[in-house]
Amino acid sequence: MKHFTSIKQLEDLGATLEAAKYVKENPFADQELGKNKTLLMIFFNSSLRTRLSTQKAALNLGMNVIVLDVNQGAWKLETERGVIMDGDKPEHLLEAIPVMGSYCDVIGVRAFAGLQDRDYDYSETIINQFIKYSGKPVFSMEAATRHPLQTLADLLTIEEHKKTAKPKVVLTWAPHPKALPQAVPNSFAEGINMTDYEFVITHPHGYELDPEFVGNAKVEYDQRKAFEGADFIYAKNWSAYAGENYGKILCDDRDWTVDEEKMALTNNAFFMHCLPVRRNMIVTDGVIESPQSLVIPEAANRVVSAQTILKEILREL
Ligand code: CP
Repeated sequence: MKHFTSIKQLEDLGATLEAAKYVKENPFADQELGKNKTLLMIFFNSSLRTRLSTQKAALNLGMNVIVLDVNQGAWKLETERGVIMDGDKPEHLLEAIPVMGSYCDVIGVRAFAGLQDRDYDYSETIINQFIKYSGKPVFSMEAATRHPLQTLADLLTIEEHKKTAKPKVVLTWAPHPKALPQAVPNSFAEGINMTDYEFVITHPHGYELDPEFVGNAKVEYDQRKAFEGADFIYAKNWSAYAGENYGKILCDDRDWTVDEEKMALTNNAFFMHCLPVRRNMIVTDGVIESPQSLVIPEAANRVVSAQTILKEILREL
């Protein structure tokens, strides 16, 4: 594997999940693979889980790790070509990227959608510039449209907890005070569409995701109906994707909060969320603290997903 920006790049999802289970049981089995190799993790946005889990994964593989927060301590970076750089950004990404590439063997990048220009966001300009100009393998630590390490951890968590071969998985929109990107729901949908699970997406009108990610999922606008008989509820907020409303908040209806009454409609479903989560906006205290909540093991599996992908990248160095 050279670069990793989408779960769809996995040729055999079943084999990758088996590889992930092996990594989970044998976290230090491949310490030689990363010896004298350096991972550079570049953050354009904040992170708790991705930062710590990816670093831990690299250490498990014997790698050295450098972390750069672009907005704290580095020169402010211009990302567009053709700009006359007479403002507050003293360095261009097109010099910074090859310089960063010269200091490491593998690069992880976190760069969220700006939510101002859909075409710009969906062309994945920043991570693609790293792929083009760094000369090194690049993997996504959440880009504008996808969060594949999260999705791999989510799929592993479902595999570990499912009680039937083809569980009903529901991706539900839930309210949030800020406009958030579509990367997590896009990527989750992309991943679930690679399985043979029953898949339902529920959200208020206006929150339709890019059809490329929705695929063959059933879209149900009645959240309670969607929850009926579900085995897994995956909650997430996202801003509007469609047309002129791109990046906007269209609804703050608290009736979409995942609560005990709606969970009672399910088949004793597990609750999932990628975290961080706004309690009593996205989900009630009672649901997230219930025995059916998987948010902690799901986050723990982020080490496993990162290590599984890093291992594949290191093998091809
Ligand atoms: N789920 C996730 O990516 O968490 P962080 O934003 O804290 O990395």
